[in-house]
Amino acid sequence: MDPVIDARALTYEYPDGTTALRDATLSIDRGERVAVVGANGSGKSTLQLALGGLVDPSAGTVRYFGQTTDAERVRDRLGVLLQDPDDYLFNATVREDLEYGPAQLGTSRRAADERIARLAAELGLTDLLDRPPFRLSGGEKQRAAVASVLAFDPDVLLLDEPFGAVDAHYRERVRELVGDHEGTVMVFTPSLDLAAELADRVIVVGQTGSIAADGPARAVLTDVCLLRENGLRPPAPVRLFEGILDADEMPLTTAAARRFLVDELGRESSDPSTTR
Ligand SMILES: Nc1ncnc2c1ncn2[C@@H]1O[C@H](COP(=O)(O)OP(=O)(O)OP(=O)(O)O)[C@@H](O)[C@H]1O
Ligand SMILES: [Mg+2]
Repeated sequence: MDPVIDARALTYEYPDGTTALRDATLSIDRGERVAVVGANGSGKSTLQLALGGLVDPSAGTVRYFGQTTDAERVRDRLGVLLQDPDDYLFNATVREDLEYGPAQLGTSRRAADERIARLAAELGLTDLLDRPPFRLSGGEKQRAAVASVLAFDPDVLLLDEPFGAVDAHYRERVRELVGDHEGTVMVFTPSLDLAAELADRVIVVGQTGSIAADGPARAVLTDVCLLRENGLRPPAPVRLFEGILDADEMPLTTAAARRFLVDELGRESSDPSTTR
C-alpha cells in the first residue's frame, strides 16, 4: 500500500535565511504511530508544517497517499494541529471551532453533534462550548484545539506538542483519544516520555534540522548516547535503569517500569535464597 506521507529530501529555509530543515527524507505508512522528537529549535514544527503542506519546502517533495503532491487536494484528510492553539482556534465560540471541520466535510448534523458532545465530555469542554476561545485558560485552549482536530476524524493526525499546557488528568484523556485514533498518528514533541507512551516508531530531528535517527521506538529510546548528543533526555525509566538493564528488557514507560519492579520484587520474595 502507498505510504500516507512520503517526503523526499525536504529542506526549508525561513525568509531570514535560517535553515530549519535539511534534506529530510521519511515515509509514513498507514496506521503507524510516530513520534518526532528533537530539542527546542531543532526543526520539529517546521517539519510538521512542511509535511502538512502549510509551507512550501525550499527543496524536496511531499507526496500524499501515493496520489498527489498538492496538500490542498487532501486537506480534509490531514489533521494538522499547530503548536500554538491560538493559531488554530479562530471562530467566535469553542462550539463553532469544533463544528467547523465536520461542516466542511459535509458530515451529517446528527453525527457531528454526537461526536462533538463526546469529545467535549472527554476533554472537559462541555461547559465551555459557548465561550470565545480567547477567554479560555492555556490548557483549556489546548484541549479545545485537540478536540477541533479530532472532531473531523482525519486519516492522518499531525499533532505539534498537543500536551504542553495540559494537566495530568487531561493529558491522560488526550493520550487515550490519540491512542484510539484509527488512522495514522504523528506527534511532534520534545518529551521522550510522551514518545514512549504513544509511539511505535521514533524519528529524531537533530540540532541542525536533519534527521538524526528513525527506527523502532525501543531501539531509538534506549540509545542514550544518540539521544543526549541530540539534546534529548531519555525517558525516565531508561535513565533509572541505564547501565543495569539491556535494551531488550528496558521498560520505556512508567507503567512498564512499575510492572517490571512488581514482578522483580514478587520473584525475590518467593526466592528462598534472597530471604534474610
Ligand atoms: N518564522 C521564523 N523565521 C525564522 N526562523 C524561524 C522561524 N520559525 C522558526 N525559526 C527557526 O527555525 C528553527 C526550527 O524551529 P522550529 O520551530 O521548527 O523548532 P522546534 O523543534 O519546533 O522547537 P520547539 O521544541 O521549541 O517547538 C529554529 O532555529 C527557529 O529559531
Ligand atoms: Mg515546535
